[in-house]
Amino acid sequence: TNPSLLILPGDGIGPEVMAEVRKVIDWFGANGGPVFDVSEDLVGGCAYDAHGTPLHDDTMARAQEVDAVLLGAVGGPKYDSLDFSLKPERGLLRLRKEMDLYANLRPAQCFDALADFSSLKTEVVSGLDIMIVRELTSGVYFGEPRGIIEEGNERVGVNTQRYTESEIDRVARSAFELAMRRGKRLCSMEKANVMESGVLWREVVTQVGKDYPEVELSHMYADAGAMQLTRWPKQFDVIVTDNLFGDLLSDLAAMLTGSLGMLPSASLGAPMANGRPKALYEPVHGSAPDIAGQGKANPIACILSFAMALRYSFDRGEDAARVERAVETVLADGLRTADLLGEEGKAPVSTSEMGDAIVAALAKG
Ligand code: NAI
Ligand code: MG
Repeated sequence: TNPSLLILPGDGIGPEVMAEVRKVIDWFGANGGPVFDVSEDLVGGCAYDAHGTPLHDDTMARAQEVDAVLLGAVGGPKYDSLDFSLKPERGLLRLRKEMDLYANLRPAQCFDALADFSSLKTEVVSGLDIMIVRELTSGVYFGEPRGIIEEGNERVGVNTQRYTESEIDRVARSAFELAMRRGKRLCSMEKANVMESGVLWREVVTQVGKDYPEVELSHMYADAGAMQLTRWPKQFDVIVTDNLFGDLLSDLAAMLTGSLGMLPSASLGAPMANGRPKALYEPVHGSAPDIAGQGKANPIACILSFAMALRYSFDRGEDAARVERAVETVLADGLRTADLLGEEGKAPVSTSEMGDAIVAALAKG
């Protein structure tokens, strides 16, 4: 049977960028590439409009069954006044929670044609290809006790950084598995010098590393890691870190390479019966209501998210690389959606022109 893919375009520019991904999927299907059993459903505001809930139970059940989920974006001003539990974001949060997606993968990859776009010097980012794995379901954002409590005559804001061995073990395994498919180098970041959770983190990651003797493991304090990421990011291959540090470091790394319209992501969970991890792929950006419906959205982040699905859910690394090369080609040819133009006087291409050009580049090899 064909591998299965659930597509959830969502709101705003979500459906616009997803239409371009469909062109790429169709191209592979018609040209000897993987053929997917694709189903499409609603998430976010559009699901609320149709069903009165941002994620229908049937959609949730389907997401649990498929080999991978590909999501566009959710949200929009129309839904801002909704009750918290009905907000579009709740649909996405429910997917992440019920699929138990504990490893968030954020690549920072530099397309050379855009190296000038970076805030760093060209030689620092040119050829950059690193992956940050952020623990997503535990740590200080979830730890108990938490709250604002009275203490003496003042209030205290309390959060608790807390990691169990098994939580560290499973995200470390995800990171080592990734490193095996990439450059076989993993750097773990924590603050074992001042945090107990960091001490345990380092110990467990080191232990898991014994199961991956081919991977060269190193450790770095997260603050030093932030410095090294901006000084010489090419020293890294895969980085694994906790929820809080990962939040900061992945945003930092994202901006090494430029626009929000270019950034893919994946969230992975435990391996399923077929050995593949539960997986949700999505661009980092949101539904961009300011440009929705105008054909201005950059579809590359979503197309690169599909490339990640090819590589990490479907063992199609060659096809993923082919998509990435096609993106590099159209950028080198000078094609730019509006978000990639900055102050330049050039005319931008539309969402669908960008998608068509990527498919044409795929066809050329
Ligand atoms: P946003 O990412 O939607 O937009 C931020 C800025 O980047 C806007 O100026 C937008 O036009 C631009 N932009 C984003 N993606 C682009 C693309 N592919 N091509 C060209 N330009 C792009 O973030 P914002 O404005 O904070 O949130 C808008 C809505 O999206 C809100 O309802 C928010 O809750 C939701 N959101 C959803 C996310 C998701 O579905 N994962 C993530 C972030 C926000
Ligand atoms: Mg963040």
